[in-house]
Amino acid sequence: MNVVILAAGMGKRMQSALPKVLHPLAGKPLLSHVLDTARSLSASQLCVIYGHGGAAVLEMLAAQPEKVATALQEPQLGTGHAVMQALPELDDSAATLILYGDVPLTTAASLQALVDVAGKDKLGILTVVQDDPFGLGRIVRENGEIVRIVEQKDANEAERAIKEINSGIMVVPTARLKQWLGALKNNNAQGEYYLTDIVAMAVADGVPVVSAQPSAQWEVAGVNSKVQLAELERIHQANIALKLLEQGVTLMDPARIDVRGELVCGRDVTIDVGCVFEGKVELADGVRVGPHCVIVNSRILAGAQIKPFCHIEEAVVGEVSIIGPYARLRPGTVLAEDVHVGNFVEIKNGQVAAHSKANHLAYIGDATIGSRVNIGAGTITCNYDGANKFRTVIEDDAFIGSDSQLVAPVTVGKGATLGAGTTLTKDAPAGKLTISRARQITVETWSRPVKKPK
Ligand code: UD1
Ligand code: CA
Repeated sequence: MNVVILAAGMGKRMQSALPKVLHPLAGKPLLSHVLDTARSLSASQLCVIYGHGGAAVLEMLAAQPEKVATALQEPQLGTGHAVMQALPELDDSAATLILYGDVPLTTAASLQALVDVAGKDKLGILTVVQDDPFGLGRIVRENGEIVRIVEQKDANEAERAIKEINSGIMVVPTARLKQWLGALKNNNAQGEYYLTDIVAMAVADGVPVVSAQPSAQWEVAGVNSKVQLAELERIHQANIALKLLEQGVTLMDPARIDVRGELVCGRDVTIDVGCVFEGKVELADGVRVGPHCVIVNSRILAGAQIKPFCHIEEAVVGEVSIIGPYARLRPGTVLAEDVHVGNFVEIKNGQVAAHSKANHLAYIGDATIGSRVNIGAGTITCNYDGANKFRTVIEDDAFIGSDSQLVAPVTVGKGATLGAGTTLTKDAPAGKLTISRARQITVETWSRPVKKPK
């Protein structure tokens, strides 16, 4: 099957410098949603018609894993004219499915149903009955059969009363499509070459015109403004939340979760309100995520608990670990089982073995930390000299006293203890107390100054 995606429109009502089809829905450009759906239908030829903001659209397409054909439509003379630009890319022996870069949520199932009902030699239209059809093309039927589509601006009063609308999505036998597009005229209210005019041509040529309907109106809803984009975002998020609930995930409020990517959950996962998941996130069995956490491209293993207000990115949290509140795990953080990371602790590119704890106010960067290590409040690994990064190694059972600075590269041996306030610049030997601190003295002869009388 050929798939043509129309994406040349300028999207003036978005009030933005970004081309409309590049605005993100659930963290992904509108056009990417359509491309992903097209790919899931195993399209053999895929062609995007671009125009406004062309450079940015081409850049986005170039970053796609598979090559996508493109055709420039300049100037934009209507939807029929747009499809004409793709004709050289289309394989005559397969049907052509026409999609819109600003209609992101059509399901593959609905498109497949349309493709199936049209077969090889019928023209199929995805239509929907809408309470308020204003502005859209109306499906004109005679004796139940579709005979043509009339645009809002060209319709008479009786036609405007029709509530069955053209979603714009069509599947057309390709050889016929080429022939009909060649015969399009622009003698209509908008002076445009309407794709929709091919419907009456099909009827005149004895080609059957059939229709399919999506499961819901949002499947064919387009984005023309930030208002519509926000509405579709909420619908999409509600759909995702519903799926999670159906899989057995407990959502404290399904209206207050945002999934911008793929969230995979095990059994008995609980997610509190206000959480954002980006990229690929895995929450294994029994994971609990507290309110207002942001989790990006990470794996949280079974039984782990993420307390409120944590930011976790490209990290692995081990089984039954407890993170937060207010913890930040940055890329390269790998925590083994039963690790505790408390409030205002930041870990970057740090590997922490089982049962270790950093419960308060610490920075751990470029560090390898053994098992059963206790990191006191205020500990900092000084990993950066302004030019290069160095590693800190803390071996099993070490105890790092509060407010210590470990100036990397440095190693704290197995079972070593650092006294509070130590600035460690040389390795601390295993099993010993190491301390670097000015000796405490008491000045017996000192007395507090007093104010001089005026
Ligand atoms: C079109 C249909 C209408 C349908 C409606 C659904 C025609 C003539 N009318 O309306 O029956 O109900 O979609 O939303 O087809 N585009 C181009 N190049 C152009 C013109 C448009 O690429 O020259 C793209 C736009 O970027 C957009 C899509 O085609 O993605 C639809 O264009 P738009 O102007 O929104 O729709 P209408 O033509 O008003
Ligand atoms: Ca238009």
